[in-house]
Amino acid sequence: MTRKLSLLLTLVLTLLIVPSVVAEKVVTISTQDIQLVYKVDKNNKLRQCYFGEAIASGAEQALMTKHDAYPTFGTSYVNEPALRAVHADGNTSTELVYVSHKTESKGDGIEYTEIALKDSYFPFNVTLCFNAYAKENVIEAWTVISHSEKKPVMLYNYASSHLFFQEEKYYLTQFYGEWADEMHMTEMQLTRGIKSLESKLGVRSNQHAHACFFLGLDAPAQENAGRVLGGTLAWPGSWKLTFDVDNLDNLHVICGINSFAGQYQLAKGEVFETPKMLYSYSNNGTGDITRNFHRWGKKYGIWRGDRTRTTLLNNWEATYFNFNEEILSKIIADASDMGFELFLLDDGWFGEKYPRNNDDAGLGDWMVNRAKLPNGIGYLVEEATRNGIKFGIWLEPEMVNPRSELYEKHPDWVITQPNREIDLSRNQLILDLCNPKVQDYVFGVIDNTLTENPGIAYVKWDCNRFVTNSGSFYLSADKQSHLWIEYVRGLYSVFERVRANHPEVSIMLCSGGGGRIDYASLRYFDEFWISDNTDAYNRIFIQWGTTQFFPAMALASHVSASPCHQTGRVTPLKFRFDVAMSAKLGMDIQPMNMTEEEKAFSKNAIKEYYTFREIVQHGDLYRLLSPYTNPRTAMMYVSEDKQDAVVFTYLLEKVINGGNNQVLYLKGLDPNKTYRLNELNKEPNKWSWFNELEGKSFTGEYLMKYGIRFPMYNQYESKIIRLTAE
Ligand code: DGJ
Repeated sequence: MTRKLSLLLTLVLTLLIVPSVVAEKVVTISTQDIQLVYKVDKNNKLRQCYFGEAIASGAEQALMTKHDAYPTFGTSYVNEPALRAVHADGNTSTELVYVSHKTESKGDGIEYTEIALKDSYFPFNVTLCFNAYAKENVIEAWTVISHSEKKPVMLYNYASSHLFFQEEKYYLTQFYGEWADEMHMTEMQLTRGIKSLESKLGVRSNQHAHACFFLGLDAPAQENAGRVLGGTLAWPGSWKLTFDVDNLDNLHVICGINSFAGQYQLAKGEVFETPKMLYSYSNNGTGDITRNFHRWGKKYGIWRGDRTRTTLLNNWEATYFNFNEEILSKIIADASDMGFELFLLDDGWFGEKYPRNNDDAGLGDWMVNRAKLPNGIGYLVEEATRNGIKFGIWLEPEMVNPRSELYEKHPDWVITQPNREIDLSRNQLILDLCNPKVQDYVFGVIDNTLTENPGIAYVKWDCNRFVTNSGSFYLSADKQSHLWIEYVRGLYSVFERVRANHPEVSIMLCSGGGGRIDYASLRYFDEFWISDNTDAYNRIFIQWGTTQFFPAMALASHVSASPCHQTGRVTPLKFRFDVAMSAKLGMDIQPMNMTEEEKAFSKNAIKEYYTFREIVQHGDLYRLLSPYTNPRTAMMYVSEDKQDAVVFTYLLEKVINGGNNQVLYLKGLDPNKTYRLNELNKEPNKWSWFNELEGKSFTGEYLMKYGIRFPMYNQYESKIIRLTAE
């Protein structure tokens, strides 16, 4: 054989025998700045190769790191599979191979990708789905499972998403809390093994923890630097976020429904869709991720997120259950006089046979308590209208007190187990939303209240307990474990019906404080109540944590009495206003208990809020000084066109010598614009350390490089500074 011929033969053989030189199939999910890349390997398995900053187009072929995209029990080498299914014939393993993928534009910069996988033997299908929001830099990931096996397949694990990272170190920030103490944050370095953040509460599932996290890659997450992943699960039921550092120091992030005690019998032909997991990523720290989620939330994740939210006065802490028509009419008049736009009537207005005069009776009986309100709700709506404000009402439609006519009539409509004592929490039980009749009833509660009283502009939808004794009289014995999922499906169906009939009514998502805050529920809600703790000092921390993922426009924050009812803390009215005005302003004080000075101060504060609420509600949030690491804390909002900004700063501890001089290095401004500084919500006749800067103008560059400098001395001292581009 000649040399030439042998060379030719070698080349042909190489091409035939070594298929790796042939380009692998690549699936890329990209936003403007971030990218998730999968490849199909020579065994037809889908592998994740990359998640991070967008890489140059065409460079994907060179990516080396590879790991099962959606690890399955039995065939993937992982500690924690994304999927565990027992097939119709009893086979406990699943092996997924690639079938096809497609990408299509949904308009507005949203690209949908689906990657179809199937078991290598069984007619069992798993589709990985993604929405990539180009401008907002958010990726939604979820999974769709179906099969055509002869009998049902039992799903034991069914994650929404699995991500894989190969770094030196991983730092996890988790968000945790308790009633009246929500959304704290803490960071830890992940070590070998599994760390799970989770809730098994089913309903009010965020009472102890929130399905949100940051992951610092290689270094702790910083505000303005470093590679960070942020994630939050859009699901109001039980959830689980698992972080597994494996034997090779790789990290697996597995997110979705908490499937504990929740195995799901998937019938032939049935389509099981997991909730959406939302991710954002930045090479410049958590600040970017927050702004990405806020922009995304206002556009896609919150009901009418483009509209400005109204101020309101709520009578909960003003009266609790002790009110009547006369008291409420007076509050309505005072609320209007102070400048609020809406009066919200809280718990205690209903119940006939079992009047709701405290929390042990009446839930479920949504007819007006005529002893308290002889002329009904309609009268109060008119009263509000006469005073030029709107009217809102509290409902807790998913719940029932055993001391109610509803429970007497339908004892089988509640979540409980037969042959067990009923387990009360706040004297109440959860209505079983798995049952379509219960769904109709719950929908009817809201629909009837709104239809019978057409002037109602606002509903506070409360939900005050979590699941125990997780039994449903509606579900069959072999499907009791479906309760966790069927409840949420029932809830969504009620949400849908309410919104179809009442798109214009503002609805607040409340759950004994912040027990239910997630981007699936918020699609139907205008705003949320994050905590029953209205202490402004505690709120600084609670709101700091919450706004890492959810925008201030939807975060209702109320000025309440001093001493605070929950903590007994005494704080200045200005401080309480300055904290509440950094989000969506409201009040929970009986105006009758306020002095004339306090009313006058409030009136002015509310008036001033209207001059900058657009910036707070629609602007971008920049955090300047964290309350976790500084005695003085600060953050600011900047309007999209960078013409306007507003800075909030609070001193948490008294400083005796020299005052606290921490510099506020502003952010997000246009360096070339010149901004005029004005202090807002000033205390009358009080000298201010800010006076030297009052009315002066500086360039954005100066304000970001040199900052604003003025001392603060007293605990609970606060300042709001308005910046206006000239
Ligand atoms: C819990 C809520 O979080 C409170 O604001 C108040 O509405 C009470 N429920 C009423 O029972």
